[in-house]
Amino acid sequence: MAKTDSGFRAGLCEDVLEALDLGVALLDAKATVLYANRPLQDRFLEGDQAPAGRPLLEAFPSLSADFDWDRAVGQAVERGRTLRLARQPLLESQHFDLTLAPMREGSGEVCSALLTVEDVSEAVRLEAKLLSQARTHVLANLGESVAHEIRNPLNSIHMNVQLLREGMRTDELDRESLDRTAEIVQREIKRLDRVVRDFVQYSRPAAKTLVQGSVNRLVRAALDALDAQILEKKISVALDLQSARPVAMDPDRLQRAFYNVLLNAVQVLPEKGTLTCRSHDEERSCVLEISDNGAGVDLVKQQRLFDLFYTTKQGGTGLGLPIANRIIEEHGGHMAVASEPGCGATFAFFLPFEGGQVPPRGGPTAVPVSPDAR
Ligand SMILES: Nc1ncnc2c1ncn2[C@@H]1O[C@H](COP(=O)(O)OP(=O)(O)OP(=O)(O)O)[C@@H](O)[C@H]1O
Ligand SMILES: [Mg+2]
Repeated sequence: MAKTDSGFRAGLCEDVLEALDLGVALLDAKATVLYANRPLQDRFLEGDQAPAGRPLLEAFPSLSADFDWDRAVGQAVERGRTLRLARQPLLESQHFDLTLAPMREGSGEVCSALLTVEDVSEAVRLEAKLLSQARTHVLANLGESVAHEIRNPLNSIHMNVQLLREGMRTDELDRESLDRTAEIVQREIKRLDRVVRDFVQYSRPAAKTLVQGSVNRLVRAALDALDAQILEKKISVALDLQSARPVAMDPDRLQRAFYNVLLNAVQVLPEKGTLTCRSHDEERSCVLEISDNGAGVDLVKQQRLFDLFYTTKQGGTGLGLPIANRIIEEHGGHMAVASEPGCGATFAFFLPFEGGQVPPRGGPTAVPVSPDAR
C-alpha cells in the first residue's frame, strides 16, 4: 500500500512538473541532466536526442548565459545554497529568471540541484515601457518648467528692447528712462544666466567616486563664503558641530548643498538674526541641522519647498533647495524641514556613513528658535 502510495505521489509530481508554465530540470552534482520537463525541452532542447544523461549545456546549449554552470551547480550542491540569476537574455530578445536550488534526499544530504527557468520577457517588456513612459513624462514636465522660466525673462527683454528702440527712434524717452529700461534688460539677462547655470547644477550627474570627509569642515567653508552678507546683516552665528565621523562625499557638491540652505537662512533673517548649525553622529548617519529665526514657512508652503522653480523671492530661481535635495539624495541621504511661521525654520540633512542609505525618518530634532531668542 505504501509503495503504491509513493508511486502515485511520484506520478503526480511528474504530472505537476509537466503542467507547469516553467522549465524545470533535475541535475546531478556535475550538471548532468537527470530529468527535464516538457516546457524546458520545448523551448531549449536542441536536436532529437533525449536530454536525460547528457551534460546540461550539451542538451540545452542556449542556456549557456554568461555563466559557469558546472561551478554553479557544484556550489549549489556542495554548499546547499540557492542561486538566483535574474533577467538573463537567453533566446532572442527573451528574458528568463533562472534558479538553482540544492535538492536533499531522504537522508538530508544534498545530492543534486533543481534548475528552474521562468520566462519573464513580458514583465521585462512592461517594465521597460513603464520606465520609458515615466522618463518621457518627467522630461516633458521638466521641459515645460524650464521653458516657462526662460520665457518670462525673454518676454521682458523683448518688450524692453522694443521700448528702447522706440525711444531712440522718436526721442521721446529721456536719458534716465533709457537707462532704467537698459537696466531691466541687463537684470533679466542675468536672471536667465542664473536659471541656466543653476539648472546645469541640478542636472549634473553624481560623482562616480566619493571621498571620506568632514561635514563640519564643509559647513565652515560654506559659512566663509557667506561672510560678507553675514557681517552686513550683523547675523550671529552659533556653531555646535559635534559630528566626528567622516562621511563618503563629493565635497564640492555637498558644500554647495549646505551653501544653498545657509544662503536661504541669511536671506530670510532680519538684521541681528541668529543662524545656528548643529551636527552630531547617529548610529548610521551624520545629522546636520541648519536653523534660523526668520519668518519661517507655513505647512502649505513647506510641501512645495523642494519643487523645481518654487520661489517667493524677486530674482530667485527656485532651484536652491531642489539642487540641495538632489545632492543629498546622491549621497544616499535625505533632507527634512521643520518650521513654525514667525519663529524660523530648521533644515536637516541626514548623511549615511560608509556610503550606505539612511532610511527616511521624521523631521529635524531642533525646534526652530523662538523670536524671543533674537
Ligand atoms: N530658511 C527659510 N525660511 C523661510 N523660507 C524659506 C527658507 N528657505 C527657503 N525658503 C522658501 O523656499 C523657497 C525656495 O527656496 P530655494 O532656495 O529653492 O529658491 P530661492 O531661494 O527662492 O531662489 P534661489 O535659491 O535660486 O536664489 C524660497 O523662495 C522661500 O520662499
Ligand atoms: Mg535659495
